[in-house]
Amino acid sequence: MAHSNEMGAPLDFKGLWQYDAAPEDKSQVKIAPRYNHFINGKFVEPDSGEYFDTISPSTEEKLSEIALANENDVDKAVKAARKAQKDWAKLPGKERGKYLFRIARLMQERARAFSVIESMDGGKPIRESRDVDVPLAAAHFFYYAGWADKLEYAYPGKKASPKGVAGQIIPWNFPLLMAAWKLAPALATGNTVVLKPAETTPLTSMFLAELIRDAGIPDGVVNIVNGMGATGAALVNHPDINKIAFTGSTPVGKFIQKALAGRDVSYTLELGGKAANIIFEDAPIDQAVEGIINGIFFNQGHVCCAGSRLFVQESVANEVMRKLKYRIDTLVVGDPLDKNTDIGAINSKKQLDKINELIQAGIDEGGQVYKANVSTPDKGFWCAPTLFTEVSQAHRIVNEEIFGPVLTIQTFRTPDEAIKKANNTAFGLSGGVWTDKGAKIFNVTSQLRAGVIWANTYNKFDPTSPFGGYKESGMGREGGLHGLTPYVNLD
Ligand code: NAI
Ligand code: MG
Repeated sequence: MAHSNEMGAPLDFKGLWQYDAAPEDKSQVKIAPRYNHFINGKFVEPDSGEYFDTISPSTEEKLSEIALANENDVDKAVKAARKAQKDWAKLPGKERGKYLFRIARLMQERARAFSVIESMDGGKPIRESRDVDVPLAAAHFFYYAGWADKLEYAYPGKKASPKGVAGQIIPWNFPLLMAAWKLAPALATGNTVVLKPAETTPLTSMFLAELIRDAGIPDGVVNIVNGMGATGAALVNHPDINKIAFTGSTPVGKFIQKALAGRDVSYTLELGGKAANIIFEDAPIDQAVEGIINGIFFNQGHVCCAGSRLFVQESVANEVMRKLKYRIDTLVVGDPLDKNTDIGAINSKKQLDKINELIQAGIDEGGQVYKANVSTPDKGFWCAPTLFTEVSQAHRIVNEEIFGPVLTIQTFRTPDEAIKKANNTAFGLSGGVWTDKGAKIFNVTSQLRAGVIWANTYNKFDPTSPFGGYKESGMGREGGLHGLTPYVNLD
């Protein structure tokens, strides 16, 4: 298969799909110096004439420049999606499914390139992009491909028809995976899409645009335009969209709700979190410590469902603290393309500033801080794993989503106290419980007000299982059968 980017230069993927190729060998991944909008099946220059840089947060080097979409560009993308929608919806579900299967398979074939680029553009460790982000993104397309011709079984006795044109706005913490979460259910149900990636991590979406073109998806079914918040807002405010799907911060989620009030546009919002990870004294402590580490340091803590508030039963608090401190000193912070790296770069200078501001607030408000004794590179944006004790609900760092490698630790005596403290938050996205008593798992998890709760594990994802939150964590579900429903009208 011939690959070329919109500049006409050949893309050399030779050897990239073999898993024995060294992931740190970025010479094999060709990033074009410039990417344009993907509208109506073609790469087109921006009406704005403007481009913005995307950098690698681990080196601060410019990787490429990306077309910036203004209102006219967004309008062109929405028009292309509108034009393509009827024919796409008319295709038998089986045919739409075939296209989705093709996307999934091509993604697997190009997994090497997607992983390397995801880690370069966003800073996450290659081990995570290779083993989590990219395989899970492909799995979402496989899963929803399977639903495309089974909608009558998904909704027995009802007729499911597509909403129409979906505007989809995604964040920078799981760029390719969030694109997959958004696109796969929308396309399976006969919607067409305008996708707006996050401004610090546009590259895997541009590689996805090339993949979608190579997969022969009809023109206009998927359109991708880049830009900052204003581009996202232009999509939300466009008069001819039927549905908005957003993942990102709670403030932007509220803005979208207001902008859509009174309009005939349905929406799903997947917003922030401040999850409780609860360790009971009867838990297997060594496993729980690994679960705490994974819960908060996976993807530098840039995870909406991160286990960022730890609650430890008093009788084992000393042991857990001792083991946690020892463990975080062993974490490798550094080059995202090194297979040994545990914690990569913070996604942007802006995010690093936010994390540091909150760490300082934690100290100023009387928290006891423990920073891991690890070295970090000179260039780039880095944050050593950080623990806070001596904190309470009154502290900002216990209330606010930090979205970084910072864990607050509190203790409790009884299950009731743990549940009360865990639920004392404006968010309700996820949670974790560690105990060897099955009855306790059922008792505690049924009282936690959160969308996803893990027991004796953390941060496990599967396309078949719904994901989403209560309270300020958003509305609607993605994943599983639940994730199809926001994209259909049911008669
Ligand atoms: P953000 O919510 O501003 O960005 C997410 C996406 O929304 C990006 O594509 C952005 O361009 C777009 N956007 C921004 N303003 C918009 C608007 N007015 N209308 C439509 N789209 C808009 O998040 P940001 O500023 O990058 O991160 C700030 C904080 O948000 C983080 O520290 C974290 O706490 C939280 N966050 C949560 C995420 C989650 O997965 N729930 C993902 C990203 C951020
Ligand atoms: Mg970048």
